[in-house]
Amino acid sequence: MKKTLLFVLIVSLMLGAFSLVSAQDEVSGDLEIFSWWTGGGEEAGLNALIARFGELYPDVNVINSAVAGGSGVNAKAVLVTRMLGGDPPDTFQVHAGEELNALWVAAGRVQPLNDIYEENGWFDQFPAGLIDMISDDMGNVYVVPVNIHRSNVMWYVPGNLEMWGVDVPADLDEFLTVTCPALQEQDVVPLAIGENWTQSHLWESIALAVLGPEGYSGLWNGETSFTSDEAIAVWEAYGQALDCGNEDMNALSWQDASQMVAEGGAAFNIMGDWAAGYFLVDLALEPNVGFGWAPAFGTDGSFMMLSDSFGLPIGAPNPDAVRAWLSFLGTAEAQDLFNPVKGSLPANITADIGNTELYNAYFQSAYEDWTTNDIVASQRHGAAVPQAFDSGFLDIIAGFQGDHDAASAAANTAVLAIQTGVGQ
Ligand code: GAL
Repeated sequence: MKKTLLFVLIVSLMLGAFSLVSAQDEVSGDLEIFSWWTGGGEEAGLNALIARFGELYPDVNVINSAVAGGSGVNAKAVLVTRMLGGDPPDTFQVHAGEELNALWVAAGRVQPLNDIYEENGWFDQFPAGLIDMISDDMGNVYVVPVNIHRSNVMWYVPGNLEMWGVDVPADLDEFLTVTCPALQEQDVVPLAIGENWTQSHLWESIALAVLGPEGYSGLWNGETSFTSDEAIAVWEAYGQALDCGNEDMNALSWQDASQMVAEGGAAFNIMGDWAAGYFLVDLALEPNVGFGWAPAFGTDGSFMMLSDSFGLPIGAPNPDAVRAWLSFLGTAEAQDLFNPVKGSLPANITADIGNTELYNAYFQSAYEDWTTNDIVASQRHGAAVPQAFDSGFLDIIAGFQGDHDAASAAANTAVLAIQTGVGQ
């Protein structure tokens, strides 16, 4: 009896191994991966994934067609042209949440991936809230998330703050009324700010600080009016924060603004934790020495989240290779290769986040906050609002830079929300 069992076990193991090998052998051809991760902290993670995937699937030829431009400002436009022009890439980067749902899922342009989730047991390995963000009402799930990023992080160099005699501000008010003037008196730029989209990134952290997690989320679910006194106060505080920034902000990428802090040209920068990837990998800085971090002023206790994910467009030239790629992306192995260099937390809860060799002090503190804070969705990075709102909002941000008119920016945002179905 025992022998028979053993035999059955050996044969099934062999068959299992054989089917894995043969499945991998069968997958071949080109696999075009579309993203906006082109370098300066963004590319390393993608390259780590591609390298391991290449070992697992040696007959697949990966074409990395990343389009430069932080936060996908250029890539998303190229993607729309390609998808609507009948020329989809095999797989593309998209944010979990409304960026995915309001456009690609609503237009029926991406395939459900439930079978991949079931085969891999992923319905139990990704947080339920995240699965919810990438599924429709019928329970069809459309993408595989590679990470959890945090948007509301404030970066600085501990030794520089000491040298300038300033503390990490406890809240927004302290930053605007104490820290910013103290630094300006010493001719130090208090806040490094970059191009247009990074300004809207700053705006969402200030909105969270002024409105609190419930009030902030209320903007997107309709419970906070865009023209309320509180919402106008967000614009006023945002205008004051812009006045604490560098004059050449429109000319700087997010990496330039992060670098300004690392090199002592500015005291603080508010950016997502892809900046940790940039500090760690590109600038080879040590956490808590070369760079320090805190929740963006006034947002302590809240974790503003977003998640990068990949899907399978309908009409993708090589769906078998995409399915192999996606089946790899969600594994703990892939997530542990990617996230320590990308600056994000693994989305798969079976990944090795407890391993402090792999996930240093920054990740440990982000993980602590992720598991204990109020979670809110990033507006800027596609979690809370559709792409249509985001494009219009970038114009409002640009207009506000010119006139600093809080009431009119608030009114324009209210109109944009109606036009794009936000909070309705
Ligand atoms: C975000 C994206 C991150 C990072 C960042 C800067 O939208 O989710 O992964 O790439 O843009 O480009």
